[in-house]
Amino acid sequence: MTEPTVYLNGQYVPYSRALVPVEDRAFLFADGVYEVVRCYDGRPFHLDRHFQRLRDSARGLELPLPLDEAGFDRIVAELLLRNGLREATVYLQVTRGAAPRQHHFPDDSAPTVVAIARPAESPPEDQVRRGVAVITVPDTRWGFCYLKTVGLLPNVLARQQARREGAHDAVFVRDGLVTEASASNVFCVFDGVVYTHPLANILPGVTRAVVLEILDELGLPCREEAVPLQRFRAADEVFLTGTTVEVMGVAQVDGRPVGAGQTGPVTLRVWEAFRRRCGSS
Ligand code: PDD
Repeated sequence: MTEPTVYLNGQYVPYSRALVPVEDRAFLFADGVYEVVRCYDGRPFHLDRHFQRLRDSARGLELPLPLDEAGFDRIVAELLLRNGLREATVYLQVTRGAAPRQHHFPDDSAPTVVAIARPAESPPEDQVRRGVAVITVPDTRWGFCYLKTVGLLPNVLARQQARREGAHDAVFVRDGLVTEASASNVFCVFDGVVYTHPLANILPGVTRAVVLEILDELGLPCREEAVPLQRFRAADEVFLTGTTVEVMGVAQVDGRPVGAGQTGPVTLRVWEAFRRRCGSS
Protein backbone atom coordinates (compact mmCIF):
# COMPACT_ATOMS: atom_id res chain seq x y z
CA MET A 1 0.00 0.00 0.00
CA THR A 2 1.31 3.46 -0.81
CA GLU A 3 1.89 5.90 1.97
CA PRO A 4 -0.70 8.60 2.67
CA THR A 5 0.22 12.10 1.62
CA VAL A 6 0.27 14.53 4.53
CA TYR A 7 0.25 18.32 4.65
CA LEU A 8 3.09 19.84 6.63
CA ASN A 9 3.86 23.57 6.72
CA GLY A 10 2.86 24.38 3.16
CA GLN A 11 3.99 21.13 1.56
CA TYR A 12 2.41 17.81 0.66
CA VAL A 13 4.79 15.06 1.66
CA PRO A 14 4.73 11.28 2.13
CA TYR A 15 3.69 10.29 5.66
CA SER A 16 7.15 8.98 6.56
CA ARG A 17 8.71 12.32 5.60
CA ALA A 18 6.25 14.45 7.57
CA LEU A 19 8.56 15.04 10.53
CA VAL A 20 8.25 17.56 13.34
CA PRO A 21 11.13 18.67 15.60
CA VAL A 22 11.32 17.03 19.02
CA GLU A 23 10.89 20.41 20.72
CA ASP A 24 7.62 21.23 19.01
CA ARG A 25 5.54 22.83 21.74
CA ALA A 26 2.61 20.53 21.10
CA PHE A 27 4.89 17.62 21.96
CA LEU A 28 6.26 19.34 25.06
CA PHE A 29 3.26 21.33 26.36
CA ALA A 30 0.19 20.31 24.30
CA ASP A 31 0.51 23.88 23.03
CA GLY A 32 -1.69 23.55 19.98
CA VAL A 33 -5.20 23.42 18.61
CA TYR A 34 -6.90 21.10 16.16
CA GLU A 35 -10.00 20.31 14.17
CA VAL A 36 -11.48 17.13 12.75
CA VAL A 37 -13.60 17.66 9.65
CA ARG A 38 -15.71 14.92 8.08
CA CYS A 39 -15.96 14.79 4.31
CA TYR A 40 -18.98 13.13 2.76
CA ASP A 41 -18.65 12.17 -0.88
CA GLY A 42 -15.70 14.53 -1.22
CA ARG A 43 -17.41 17.52 0.42
CA PRO A 44 -16.31 18.82 3.81
CA PHE A 45 -19.21 19.05 6.27
CA HIS A 46 -19.55 22.62 7.61
CA LEU A 47 -15.90 23.52 7.09
CA ASP A 48 -16.80 27.15 7.83
CA ARG A 49 -17.93 26.27 11.35
CA HIS A 50 -14.82 24.19 11.94
CA PHE A 51 -12.67 27.08 10.79
CA GLN A 52 -14.45 29.52 13.09
CA ARG A 53 -13.88 27.21 16.03
CA LEU A 54 -10.22 26.75 15.04
CA ARG A 55 -9.85 30.53 15.00
CA ASP A 56 -11.55 30.82 18.41
CA SER A 57 -9.38 28.05 19.87
CA ALA A 58 -6.21 29.67 18.50
CA ARG A 59 -7.25 33.04 19.88
CA GLY A 60 -7.88 31.41 23.26
CA LEU A 61 -4.26 30.20 23.31
CA GLU A 62 -2.95 33.52 21.89
CA LEU A 63 -1.69 31.49 18.97
CA PRO A 64 -1.45 33.35 15.65
CA LEU A 65 -3.28 31.25 13.07
CA PRO A 66 -1.24 31.06 9.85
CA LEU A 67 -4.27 29.97 7.87
CA ASP A 68 -7.54 31.45 6.64
CA GLU A 69 -10.73 29.63 5.76
CA ALA A 70 -9.85 29.43 2.07
CA GLY A 71 -6.46 27.96 3.00
CA PHE A 72 -8.12 25.35 5.24
CA ASP A 73 -10.51 24.50 2.42
CA ARG A 74 -7.63 24.11 -0.05
CA ILE A 75 -5.71 21.80 2.27
CA VAL A 76 -8.77 19.58 2.79
CA ALA A 77 -9.53 19.43 -0.94
CA GLU A 78 -5.92 18.73 -1.85
CA LEU A 79 -5.57 15.95 0.74
CA LEU A 80 -8.72 14.25 -0.53
CA LEU A 81 -7.48 14.50 -4.09
CA ARG A 82 -3.93 13.36 -3.41
CA ASN A 83 -5.10 10.44 -1.28
CA GLY A 84 -7.97 9.43 -3.56
CA LEU A 85 -10.51 9.79 -0.76
CA ARG A 86 -14.17 10.84 -0.81
CA GLU A 87 -15.33 9.51 2.58
CA ALA A 88 -12.75 10.82 5.01
CA THR A 89 -11.93 12.70 8.15
CA VAL A 90 -9.30 15.40 7.91
CA TYR A 91 -7.35 16.13 11.07
CA LEU A 92 -5.65 19.53 11.11
CA GLN A 93 -3.41 20.70 13.93
CA VAL A 94 -1.72 24.03 14.49
CA THR A 95 0.95 24.33 17.17
CA ARG A 96 3.08 27.16 18.46
CA GLY A 97 6.02 25.51 16.73
CA ALA A 98 9.43 24.35 17.89
CA ALA A 99 11.69 26.25 20.26
CA PRO A 100 14.06 25.42 23.15
CA ARG A 101 11.89 24.32 26.06
CA GLN A 102 10.74 27.18 28.25
CA HIS A 103 7.20 27.74 29.45
CA HIS A 104 6.58 31.24 28.15
CA PHE A 105 5.97 31.80 24.46
CA PRO A 106 9.11 31.87 22.31
CA ASP A 107 9.77 35.16 20.51
CA ASP A 108 10.36 33.71 17.11
CA SER A 109 8.90 30.24 16.64
CA ALA A 110 7.04 29.52 13.41
CA PRO A 111 3.78 27.64 13.91
CA THR A 112 3.59 24.02 12.81
CA VAL A 113 0.60 23.16 10.65
CA VAL A 114 -0.04 19.53 9.93
CA ALA A 115 -3.04 17.86 8.32
CA ILE A 116 -3.83 14.28 7.50
CA ALA A 117 -6.81 12.68 5.78
CA ARG A 118 -7.98 9.23 6.77
CA PRO A 119 -10.70 7.06 5.25
CA ALA A 120 -13.88 7.26 7.32
CA GLU A 121 -17.14 5.38 7.55
CA SER A 122 -20.31 6.43 9.25
CA PRO A 123 -21.29 4.20 12.16
CA PRO A 124 -23.33 1.28 10.79
CA GLU A 125 -27.10 1.60 11.06
CA ASP A 126 -27.49 -1.52 13.21
CA GLN A 127 -25.09 -0.07 15.78
CA VAL A 128 -26.99 3.22 15.80
CA ARG A 129 -30.29 1.36 16.28
CA ARG A 130 -28.89 -0.93 18.96
CA GLY A 131 -27.17 1.90 20.78
CA VAL A 132 -23.88 1.86 22.68
CA ALA A 133 -22.95 1.63 26.34
CA VAL A 134 -21.37 4.52 28.22
CA ILE A 135 -19.96 4.92 31.68
CA THR A 136 -19.89 8.16 33.66
CA VAL A 137 -16.63 9.53 35.07
CA PRO A 138 -15.63 12.68 36.98
CA ASP A 139 -14.83 15.57 34.65
CA THR A 140 -11.24 16.21 35.66
CA ARG A 141 -10.55 18.60 32.79
CA TRP A 142 -9.48 22.22 32.98
CA GLY A 143 -11.47 25.44 32.66
CA PHE A 144 -10.98 25.88 28.90
CA CYS A 145 -12.90 22.90 27.56
CA TYR A 146 -14.49 25.20 24.97
CA LEU A 147 -11.11 25.44 23.22
CA LYS A 148 -10.23 22.51 21.00
CA THR A 149 -6.67 22.02 22.17
CA VAL A 150 -4.51 18.93 21.84
CA GLY A 151 -4.35 18.64 25.64
CA LEU A 152 -6.65 15.61 25.70
CA LEU A 153 -5.19 13.36 28.38
CA PRO A 154 -8.30 13.37 30.62
CA ASN A 155 -10.35 12.46 27.53
CA VAL A 156 -7.90 9.69 26.66
CA LEU A 157 -7.97 8.25 30.18
CA ALA A 158 -11.77 8.44 30.33
CA ARG A 159 -12.13 6.66 26.97
CA GLN A 160 -9.61 4.02 28.01
CA GLN A 161 -11.51 3.38 31.25
CA ALA A 162 -14.70 3.01 29.23
CA ARG A 163 -13.08 0.50 26.88
CA ARG A 164 -11.59 -1.42 29.83
CA GLU A 165 -15.06 -1.68 31.32
CA GLY A 166 -16.56 -2.89 28.05
CA ALA A 167 -18.28 0.40 27.23
CA HIS A 168 -18.04 2.49 24.10
CA ASP A 169 -17.36 5.83 25.69
CA ALA A 170 -17.25 7.85 28.89
CA VAL A 171 -19.50 10.75 29.80
CA PHE A 172 -18.04 13.44 32.04
CA VAL A 173 -19.81 14.65 35.17
CA ARG A 174 -18.82 17.98 36.72
CA ASP A 175 -20.34 19.21 39.99
CA GLY A 176 -23.00 16.51 39.69
CA LEU A 177 -24.00 17.61 36.17
CA VAL A 178 -23.44 15.79 32.87
CA THR A 179 -21.18 17.88 30.61
CA GLU A 180 -20.14 15.98 27.47
CA ALA A 181 -18.41 12.76 26.43
CA SER A 182 -14.72 12.12 25.70
CA ALA A 183 -15.06 13.18 22.04
CA SER A 184 -18.73 14.05 21.60
CA ASN A 185 -21.55 16.10 23.06
CA VAL A 186 -24.37 14.48 25.04
CA PHE A 187 -28.12 14.86 24.68
CA CYS A 188 -30.92 13.22 26.66
CA VAL A 189 -34.69 13.09 26.34
CA PHE A 190 -37.41 13.28 29.01
CA ASP A 191 -41.08 13.14 28.02
CA GLY A 192 -40.28 14.29 24.49
CA VAL A 193 -38.15 17.23 25.61
CA VAL A 194 -34.49 17.13 24.58
CA TYR A 195 -31.78 18.44 26.93
CA THR A 196 -28.12 19.22 26.37
CA HIS A 197 -25.52 21.08 28.41
CA PRO A 198 -25.36 24.81 27.60
CA LEU A 199 -22.24 26.25 25.97
CA ALA A 200 -20.38 26.75 29.23
CA ASN A 201 -16.99 25.07 29.47
CA ILE A 202 -17.84 22.30 27.02
CA LEU A 203 -16.73 22.01 23.42
CA PRO A 204 -19.16 23.85 21.11
CA GLY A 205 -19.63 20.85 18.83
CA VAL A 206 -20.35 21.45 15.17
CA THR A 207 -22.60 18.38 15.21
CA ARG A 208 -24.30 19.67 18.37
CA ALA A 209 -25.16 22.92 16.56
CA VAL A 210 -26.48 21.01 13.54
CA VAL A 211 -28.57 18.78 15.82
CA LEU A 212 -30.05 21.83 17.55
CA GLU A 213 -31.11 23.08 14.10
CA ILE A 214 -32.58 19.68 13.26
CA LEU A 215 -34.56 19.59 16.53
CA ASP A 216 -35.94 23.00 15.69
CA GLU A 217 -36.90 21.88 12.18
CA LEU A 218 -38.57 18.75 13.53
CA GLY A 219 -40.47 20.84 16.06
CA LEU A 220 -38.95 18.88 18.95
CA PRO A 221 -38.59 21.01 22.07
CA CYS A 222 -35.02 21.38 23.29
CA ARG A 223 -33.50 22.99 26.35
CA GLU A 224 -29.84 23.86 26.71
CA GLU A 225 -29.84 22.98 30.37
CA ALA A 226 -27.42 20.84 32.37
CA VAL A 227 -28.86 17.56 33.64
CA PRO A 228 -27.89 16.11 37.04
CA LEU A 229 -26.38 12.62 36.92
CA GLN A 230 -29.25 10.98 38.84
CA ARG A 231 -31.77 12.38 36.39
CA PHE A 232 -29.55 11.50 33.42
CA ARG A 233 -29.56 7.87 34.52
CA ALA A 234 -33.37 7.90 34.37
CA ALA A 235 -33.61 9.51 30.90
CA ASP A 236 -35.98 8.04 28.32
CA GLU A 237 -33.25 8.40 25.70
CA VAL A 238 -29.62 9.44 25.53
CA PHE A 239 -27.53 10.16 22.46
CA LEU A 240 -24.07 11.40 21.55
CA THR A 241 -23.21 13.82 18.75
CA GLY A 242 -19.85 14.39 17.10
CA THR A 243 -17.94 14.46 13.86
CA THR A 244 -17.04 10.78 14.03
CA VAL A 245 -20.02 9.31 15.96
CA GLU A 246 -22.51 11.54 14.08
CA VAL A 247 -25.71 10.87 16.07
CA MET A 248 -25.28 7.76 18.21
CA GLY A 249 -27.91 6.23 20.46
CA VAL A 250 -26.93 5.22 23.98
CA ALA A 251 -28.53 2.01 25.25
CA GLN A 252 -26.82 1.74 28.61
CA VAL A 253 -25.45 4.13 31.20
CA ASP A 254 -23.23 2.64 33.90
CA GLY A 255 -24.50 -0.85 33.12
CA ARG A 256 -28.19 0.06 33.39
CA PRO A 257 -30.53 0.24 30.39
CA VAL A 258 -31.64 3.61 29.05
CA GLY A 259 -35.39 3.53 28.38
CA ALA A 260 -36.15 0.26 26.61
CA GLY A 261 -32.44 -0.58 26.38
CA GLN A 262 -32.05 0.43 22.75
CA THR A 263 -31.92 3.64 20.77
CA GLY A 264 -35.16 5.56 21.23
CA PRO A 265 -37.54 7.08 18.66
CA VAL A 266 -36.50 10.73 19.11
CA THR A 267 -32.84 9.82 18.63
CA LEU A 268 -33.67 7.85 15.48
CA ARG A 269 -35.59 10.79 14.02
CA VAL A 270 -32.64 13.08 14.69
CA TRP A 271 -30.23 10.50 13.25
CA GLU A 272 -32.28 10.13 10.06
CA ALA A 273 -32.46 13.90 9.60
CA PHE A 274 -28.74 14.19 10.25
CA ARG A 275 -27.94 11.52 7.66
CA ARG A 276 -30.03 13.39 5.12
CA ARG A 277 -27.96 16.50 5.81
CA CYS A 278 -24.76 14.55 5.19
CA GLY A 279 -26.20 13.43 1.89
CA SER A 280 -25.29 9.92 2.92
CA SER A 281 -28.61 8.18 3.42
N1 PDD B 1 -13.96 15.50 19.00
N2 PDD B 1 -16.79 17.28 22.79
C1 PDD B 1 -15.49 16.91 22.74
C2 PDD B 1 -14.72 16.86 24.01
C3 PDD B 1 -14.89 16.59 21.51
O1 PDD B 1 -13.59 16.25 21.46
C4 PDD B 1 -15.67 16.62 20.32
C5 PDD B 1 -15.10 16.29 18.98
C6 PDD B 1 -17.03 17.00 20.43
C7 PDD B 1 -17.93 17.07 19.22
O2 PDD B 1 -17.59 18.14 18.39
P1 PDD B 1 -17.90 18.08 16.81
O3 PDD B 1 -19.33 17.80 16.69
O4 PDD B 1 -17.51 19.41 16.35
O5 PDD B 1 -17.06 16.98 16.25
C8 PDD B 1 -17.54 17.33 21.68
C9 PDD B 1 -13.26 15.16 17.77
C10 PDD B 1 -14.10 14.45 16.78
C11 PDD B 1 -12.01 14.42 18.13
O6 PDD B 1 -11.36 14.85 19.09
O7 PDD B 1 -11.65 13.46 17.46
